Amino acid sequence: MTDDQSLQPKASLYFANAAAGVMLPDVVEATVRHLRREAEIGAVPAAAEASDVIAAGYAAAADLIGAEIDEVAFVGSGNRALAALIQSAALQPGDHVLVDRTCWGGTLHMLSSYPGVIVDVMPVDQHGRVDVDAAKARAHPATRLVVLTWCPATCAIFKPAEAVGVLAEELGAFYIVDACQVAGQRPIDVRDLRCHGLAASGRKWLRGPRGTALLYASREYLTATRAFMADQFGKAEPMHGAMRQGNRTWPVGSACPSR
Ligand SMILES: Cc1ncc(COP(=O)(O)O)c(C=O)c1O
Repeated sequence: MTDDQSLQPKASLYFANAAAGVMLPDVVEATVRHLRREAEIGAVPAAAEASDVIAAGYAAAADLIGAEIDEVAFVGSGNRALAALIQSAALQPGDHVLVDRTCWGGTLHMLSSYPGVIVDVMPVDQHGRVDVDAAKARAHPATRLVVLTWCPATCAIFKPAEAVGVLAEELGAFYIVDACQVAGQRPIDVRDLRCHGLAASGRKWLRGPRGTALLYASREYLTATRAFMADQFGKAEPMHGAMRQGNRTWPVGSACPSR
């Protein structure tokens, strides 16, 4: 912990973590220190200097959600992580997708931008949580994807994410979990969830800086899906590219001395 009192939050009670949590003093200090270093020596050497810290960050991120280190990447926002997962699915006309009733708006827009894809809402019980049996009745031979906003931005309803994972597995569909409002608030284990993808914002309950997020894509998902955007280094694989070389890479557009 830092001794610098100027980095301590001024308010004694802060309730807006669902929008953006107050950064921990250590986070502020590390971010400012790195920016200063970038200003002094440039982004690429500063990143090289910090390579051990970056590697430790990947390991901690993987550990946080029970993933392997080559299944996680850091990206610029929760929405960006969802975009990587949803665009990689390369849905075709006639494909069927199940979402929950309080699905993140960005997710809905991305899904509805696929021509001819049918997006269906899973029914809920009296508490507003997904009714998994009723959801099963909505399934379709063409159900390719289930997307769950585990806890929505708009209310504090936690959905039965593990049970929805069992349903997705039964349906043979890919399963993506939006954990932007969950990471840092509740434990996450991607194996228990049986999910193929997961997105988590850095700036909410994790109390990290704005402009950060954790992207998880299982090895199975990475193998089965297509890449949707190119970067400078090698293949046309942004999501996949962010994850290659044991994940010691930076998101697209960032300095990347370790490639
Ligand atoms: C449920 C949910 N999903 C996704 C996002 C998007 O996250 P970000 O703001 O990091 O892009 C938010 C942000 O409020 C959210 O609440």
